[in-house]
Amino acid sequence: MNLVPKPAYPWPGVIRRYADFLPVTATTPVVTLLEGNTPLVPAPGFVRAIGGKFELYLKYEALNPTCSFKDRGMTMAITKALERGAKAVVCASTGNTSASAAAYAARAGLKCVVLLPEGKIALGKLAQALMYGATTVSIRGNFDDALRIVRELGETGLIEVVNSINPVRIEGQKTAAFEICDALGDAPDFHFLPVGNAGNITAYWRGFSEYLNAGKADTRPRMMGWQAAGAAPIVLGHPVEHPETVATAIRIGNPASWQGALTAASESGGAIRSVTDEEILHAYKLLARTEGLMVEPACAAPLAGLIQAVRAGEIPDGSLVTATMTGHGLKDPDTAIRVAGFEPIVTDATREAVASAIGLS
Ligand code: F0G
Repeated sequence: MNLVPKPAYPWPGVIRRYADFLPVTATTPVVTLLEGNTPLVPAPGFVRAIGGKFELYLKYEALNPTCSFKDRGMTMAITKALERGAKAVVCASTGNTSASAAAYAARAGLKCVVLLPEGKIALGKLAQALMYGATTVSIRGNFDDALRIVRELGETGLIEVVNSINPVRIEGQKTAAFEICDALGDAPDFHFLPVGNAGNITAYWRGFSEYLNAGKADTRPRMMGWQAAGAAPIVLGHPVEHPETVATAIRIGNPASWQGALTAASESGGAIRSVTDEEILHAYKLLARTEGLMVEPACAAPLAGLIQAVRAGEIPDGSLVTATMTGHGLKDPDTAIRVAGFEPIVTDATREAVASAIGLS
């Protein structure tokens, strides 16, 4: 096993870094924004606050070029679309896929169409799709409706689908598991992550498995996937017609990679479970205040799950635990401002007024 990480700089993006594990050749026209190489941030303050005695590292995917993990899969999807001669791409999205598709399509000079559930997209994500110039369609329906329409559009052969039903998306996203193993020198004992359409848990399990088979890791983690209670089809065992959660990124009632999630959980000895919106918002704030890391609400689902698991005594002392923080907190400023718990103090513009307002006088 190679315990020595390769030099991080100059970082060439995930396709060139992990080309041996990806369906590309020397002539593939790589479209990259130099995604990947995101930090694995230790989170001892959070662990202390939840009464754990283990090591926790957060894969901070917020630091990708469009501020979510989607860029790993999108560099592959847009690269392969270009290689096949596509002129236009389309996706359904709860926000992050559309931001990423729009950015990579802009870079490749491809037309991009995104279908979004009207009124259920975090503000920053909508701003991204519009700024990158994607044709943005808000449908009166949810993500599952949008994905159904996108599948139908894809069947015309006139436009390439870049949702994770496109298998190269999963290929790109598995590189996050490689990076975790490269950084730690082996796989962790547990990996926690949010589950929506279930592409990412499928991708991580493939990544950990391929690294084990290639002799680059000695073990694989137990995969712990977390859905929001109001959008927990895999936990319930049936599709949810009207999914609802504050974590709009994972507001999905009929995940495309359902089977992949079940396989990851069962083969790894892990589980797919759910947490309530209240638990999500608690973990969301706790992370910001104990570690100085602001993530979007979906990322707090696995953190809330970790709190559950600690309470249930399921994380042995000394364990090595990793969790994916899939998207940046600034993508959803409305939720942050709504739940932060306080507002700016308005004062006159004098030292005395400020001193009095902050209790210094
Ligand atoms: N976290 C964030 C921030 C997401 O945007 C998503 C999915 C997930 C977790 C769940 O990942 O779908 O692979 O299980 N967002 C998709 C989108 C659905 O359209 O941006 P998953």
